[in-house]
Amino acid sequence: MNEYPQPSRLGTVICTDSGPNVMEFSFVVEGGPNDIIARRGEFVSVVTESGIVIARIQDLTRTNRYYQHAEAVREYQSRGEPLRAIFPTDRWQYTVASARVLGLWSDGHTVRPYFAVSPGATVRSADEDTLGRFLRLDSQDGLDLGTVAYQNLAFTPSIDRLVSKHLAILAMSGAGKSYFVSVLLEEILKRTPKQGRLSAVVVDVHGEYTYLKDAGPESLGMKPKDFDVEVVKGSHFQIPVQALSAEGIGALVADMSSIQIRDLRRVIANARTHLEGSYSLGELATLIREDETISRNTREALTSWLVSLDETGLFGKEGVPDIKRLIRPGRLTIIDLSDFISLKKKQIVVSHLASELLYLRRRNEIPPFLFVLEEAHQFCPESRHELALPKGRIETIAREGRKFYALLCLISQRPVKLSTTVLSQCSNQAILRCTNPYDLDHIGKSSEGIDRSSLDAITTLEIGEALFVGETVSVPTFVKIRHRHLEPTGLPRSLSEAIKRSDK
Ligand SMILES: Nc1ncnc2c1ncn2[C@@H]1O[C@H](COP(=O)(O)OP(=O)(O)OP(=O)(O)O)[C@@H](O)[C@H]1O
Ligand SMILES: [Mg+2]
Repeated sequence: MNEYPQPSRLGTVICTDSGPNVMEFSFVVEGGPNDIIARRGEFVSVVTESGIVIARIQDLTRTNRYYQHAEAVREYQSRGEPLRAIFPTDRWQYTVASARVLGLWSDGHTVRPYFAVSPGATVRSADEDTLGRFLRLDSQDGLDLGTVAYQNLAFTPSIDRLVSKHLAILAMSGAGKSYFVSVLLEEILKRTPKQGRLSAVVVDVHGEYTYLKDAGPESLGMKPKDFDVEVVKGSHFQIPVQALSAEGIGALVADMSSIQIRDLRRVIANARTHLEGSYSLGELATLIREDETISRNTREALTSWLVSLDETGLFGKEGVPDIKRLIRPGRLTIIDLSDFISLKKKQIVVSHLASELLYLRRRNEIPPFLFVLEEAHQFCPESRHELALPKGRIETIAREGRKFYALLCLISQRPVKLSTTVLSQCSNQAILRCTNPYDLDHIGKSSEGIDRSSLDAITTLEIGEALFVGETVSVPTFVKIRHRHLEPTGLPRSLSEAIKRSDK
């Protein structure tokens, strides 16, 4: 145990009514009455014969025996004299910290704690190296996402731990979700072939990530040839009609009856044999119109559906882009849907993209990928009443994708509206500031590793601070997300700047 470095002393373990016990202990904090040397949320350690007990400060209580008797305080108050004018009250103020045990670090492994620390034992800060290993960070090949709160320790989770079982990023609006995603994308882009490069596909609903395409790779310390970002505009997106089944088209329009689907299936089979491979929705509509065997009502309904789908401009004879050629190791593909106002159009694109990606990945025709979906609650909502074409597809990726590394990164500012099936499949969550009680409750229920006090702390997080729970780290960990290296240029930073510019 002697090799363990001696980080700074914080205090001494004391006896309380319930402790020290296996899971908790309290200690009197060292230093002068007004010094703040221990902070809530900070990791601490106690060296014992059997290993290093790693704990986290849950709360701090200040006490002073001179102020314990309300009557005495009231008496002096009524005389108009502060107590401290008569007694050396300052000297009697001290702080008691209560800490929750997280684990025992013994011979390079984390062991479940099985004994209580001794009263009188010295409590120290946690040594950064040990803490990094205890949290299972990867200091060599990990993703540099920020620093562990209150510690001088880089938060560098391994890519395996962070995304290999899906990641959900949840928080209220403006808490820093998209900013965190930019940081994550920078880290994914920066990886070398030796480290293994992941392909990322971002559904960019608001056009927030397209700046990455024009950003200089030098800011990431990369050579231009290694920096690979592609932007696909939503308006260029085209879904090949011949790839659509009758059920597929049925899913795109509400209320198609089974009889109508059956008739449509027949027409599609007909089109596949007679129209030589590729055909448009318009051609399909003509075939239906001319088919006398279908009842007039069905003909009218089917053609009007097909015409309105055709009007979205999302369907054509060829698939654009060619997803198989687009997805490459190390490439970031941004699907910019900011031109689309209609939610339905966005849903159609996401639905097609999700199913293509899963299909191609299953057949090993594209490399492992991370599918980043902003506003995930709009694409896979919990409620059955909301129209959500891609829901089934995304749920399938959530359930089955991890086996062959078709991975999801879902972002939502309304976790309560996000499908619980999908959320519960995300083994990792990064939770940023969130104050809505319904959302907090939902987060608490859907993530196993989160305890009450961490949940309470989420409401007090600042912008850019995140709580990581799940398999990323061994215990829930608060992290200050780093600044991004690449910044969007030309965007107004605030409302006042935007109105000044538009008023010129
Ligand atoms: N880690 C950070 N460091 C510095 N600034 C940050 C950080 N995170 C967020 N910010 C600031 O907060 C602003 C809002 O962040 P962001 O756009 O990521 O919020 P959001 O959670 O995606 O919101 P919305 O739900 O509305 O999309 C950013 O423009 C940036 O100025
Ligand atoms: Mg955002």
